[in-house]
This record gives sequence, C-alpha cells and structure tokens, in this order.
Amino acid sequence: MATERTLSIIKPDAVAKNAIGEIIARFEKAGLKVVAAKMLHLSEEKAGGFYAEHKERPFFKDLVGFMTSGPVVVQVLQGEDAIAKNRELMGATNPKEAAPGTIRADFAETIDANAVHGSDSPASAEREVAYFFGADEIHSR
Ligand code: TYD
Ligand code: MG
Repeated sequence: MATERTLSIIKPDAVAKNAIGEIIARFEKAGLKVVAAKMLHLSEEKAGGFYAEHKERPFFKDLVGFMTSGPVVVQVLQGEDAIAKNRELMGATNPKEAAPGTIRADFAETIDANAVHGSDSPASAEREVAYFFGADEIHSR
C-alpha cells in the first residue's frame, strides 16, 4: 500500500444537516489527514464538469441541480490507501444498500442526495484533486 491523495466532497444535504464536523471526524479517526479544504457553492458549469463522466446518464440533470443547491465542503484526504479507505468509510452509492456505520448509511436516505463524494481510482483522484485545488493549496504534512 502506498500513501495516496483522494478528493472528498461533503455534499449540500450533509452541509445543510450540520454534519460537516462528524464526517470529517470519521476521516481523521480512520487515519486520513485533511491536507486541503474549502467551502464552495458550485456553479452549474463547475458541477457539470466535475461529473462529466455521467453526462449521458438519465440522472445527470438532477445530480447537477442537487450539487448546486447549496454549499459543499471540498477536501483532499491523504493517507495509506486513501482512495479505497475513503470509499469504504462512505459506503455504497445508494444509502439503502450502504453497510451499517458508513457515512451514507448514517447521513443519507436516497441515492440522489447521498452526503459525500469520493474519488474512485488513482486516475480520477488525480483529475478531481486538480479540478478544485492548485498545488499551493495542498498542505502535505
Ligand atoms: P457514481 O459515480 O455512480 O457513484 P459514487 O458517488 O458512489 O461514485 O454516481 C455519481 C453520483 O450520481 C452519485 O453519488 C449519486 C448520483 N446518482 C444518482 O442520482 N442516481 C444513480 O442511479 C446513480 C448511479 C448515481
Ligand atoms: Mg463516482
């Protein structure tokens, strides 16, 4: 296993629920370090570009609508096996199928408002981190 970086987004539903701190605490307790973070209200263009891989999917329009519905907290998490570890902490895309104790099981009810995003591979992590952060905004510790 290697030290990796991954992009995490606390989505508008979880921000609205006052769950920012609890979610970040889970990352930190699991050994992931927050090495960059900011709160943003995404434009349609920024959200659509982020989810460009899903552009042809039937849920794309609603996904962009949801992601622009309120502020989000975008972070870079760093640690051993960070990409898979974050996905494990998040749980399945559909909260109804997410394992007990995962973030999506505990903070989300539906697939279209599922609390968090996490990069799914080294290639997407690299693209997604660079989509939101310049090198000077990432503070490796
Ligand atoms: P996806 O990349 O498949 O899931 P994940 O976030 O676990 O990597 O899909 C991106 C987001 O699109 C997902 O978090 C929620 C939304 N989505 C839907 O609204 N409906 C769906 O059927 C799917 C597959 C995703
Ligand atoms: Mg995905």
